[in-house]
Amino acid sequence: MMKYALMLAVATATVGTPQLAWADDAAPMATSRDSTVPVITDDMALFESFGGRAGLVKIMDDVMPRWLANAKTRPFFENADQTRIKAQLVEQFCVIMKGPCEYSGRSMADAHRGMNVSEASFYALVEELQRTLNAMDVQFRAQNRLIAALAPMHRDIIDK
Ligand code: HEM
Repeated sequence: MMKYALMLAVATATVGTPQLAWADDAAPMATSRDSTVPVITDDMALFESFGGRAGLVKIMDDVMPRWLANAKTRPFFENADQTRIKAQLVEQFCVIMKGPCEYSGRSMADAHRGMNVSEASFYALVEELQRTLNAMDVQFRAQNRLIAALAPMHRDIIDK
């Protein structure tokens, strides 16, 4: 069984970029039903605090240009099917938040295999996502719960 245990520290100073850290030995904060999509809540409050499905669509529309503008993430996305990725992310985030969706995409390991995603690129992607969530005034607590669910995925995504 996959264990989603992490210790997460997110510091958003007024200047500077958010810092993330996680450790494998921390107490579990999230449970998983399969290795692709850990469900982090049993009610729909979190999903609603992101504006439901329409909110998630807006988030992806806002964050993709940020990923395309960031030198650490642009090379991966510029020639990719951005429309599909956004749609898959909406589904995936919706499931993570126990929304009324199903994820039809690939596992994180399959989707990112052979891409040579570095730790720096992973951090950059998460940081741009946090910028979007801040811009959209998603509550900080809700942001943290999402980021806490995404952080353990680094094991399946980062190659080097
Ligand atoms: C927690 C972090 C991440 C999550 C939740 C995530 C999620 C996803 C999802 C749901 C897909 C679609 C899978 C499918 O089409 O079946 C995808 C594809 C993709 N991801 Fe990620 N991803 C993450 C990190 C990254 C990073 C760090 C990069 C590069 C900097 C990246 C680059 C890509 C690319 C280029 C694709 C398209 C692959 C293809 O079309 O073959 N992802 N990701």
